Amino acid sequence: MASSTNTGRRIMLLTGASRGIGHATVKRFSAAGWRVITASRHPFPENCPWEMGPEDHLQVDLANPDDTLRAVEETKRRLEAEGGVLHALVNNAGISPKGPGGRRLNALETSFEDWRHVFQVNFFAPIMLARGLRDELTRARGAVVNVTSIAGSRVHPFAGAAYATSKAALAALTREMAADFGPLGVRVNAISPGEIDTSILSPGTEKLVREQIPMHRLGTPDEVAKAIYFLVTDASSYVNGAELHINGGQHV
Ligand SMILES: NC(=O)c1ccc[n+]([C@@H]2O[C@H](COP(=O)([O-])OP(=O)(O)OC[C@H]3O[C@@H](n4cnc5c(N)ncnc54)[C@H](OP(=O)(O)O)[C@@H]3O)[C@@H](O)[C@H]2O)c1
Repeated sequence: MASSTNTGRRIMLLTGASRGIGHATVKRFSAAGWRVITASRHPFPENCPWEMGPEDHLQVDLANPDDTLRAVEETKRRLEAEGGVLHALVNNAGISPKGPGGRRLNALETSFEDWRHVFQVNFFAPIMLARGLRDELTRARGAVVNVTSIAGSRVHPFAGAAYATSKAALAALTREMAADFGPLGVRVNAISPGEIDTSILSPGTEKLVREQIPMHRLGTPDEVAKAIYFLVTDASSYVNGAELHINGGQHV
């Protein structure tokens, strides 16, 4: 139960903020005055590049369901002092395992253990967090953004079968969540990045960029963060169940 009232500052829980798209997202929202609680496997960095304290970082392994549920309880506890409200949940953490030498893992050779591991992080953790924090999101009339991928809707030359199917499932889950959370006043949308300049990219991406992306360049993490900002804030107040493609036209 909420023990005091929110100070007016908006609060977000963002998974996978230590690098790439998540890193750009925490910077953008912090600059706009949000309190961003970040969650990832690594501990809070001492020389953190944005203004926050260790109380705003949660160390959690989203591949582990028990640890994910512990993180939900810990998030609820931290939100109590702010009236038990959560204005945004951004499910950004994701993994895309590769075979030896960076090889693509296809549907014939991906072990089921690896497949389950990918699904736990990319698919089950987002719904575990959203369900666990449903009351906090409802109180704030908040928004959820799931980070899917261009690989979820077409076979990708580098992203593997487990990753692609987990992102396709997350896109379908976004629709289901939009239908089920909508009546609670909580909007649920997805962003689907194409080739964004982060460490997840594989060698050979340059050729793909030249031949398949009409804009002939990679996207930047901040260009994705801007779209997340749109989907979380009032500018998108009637957008629910959408999947916004951020890929320079790669799928046209
Ligand atoms: N970059 C692209 O071109 C691209 C394209 C399409 C979709 N996406 C999606 O965008 C999202 C972010 O991608 P990115 O390129 O920024 O990824 P990234 O640079 O690889 O960062 C992934 C983040 O997830 C966290 N993470 C990984 N495994 C975790 C676990 N088991 N528990 C908790 N946190 C975990 C990592 O932090 P720790 O290491 O501290 O755990 C890190 O902060 C992902 O969902 C990805 O699938 C990216």
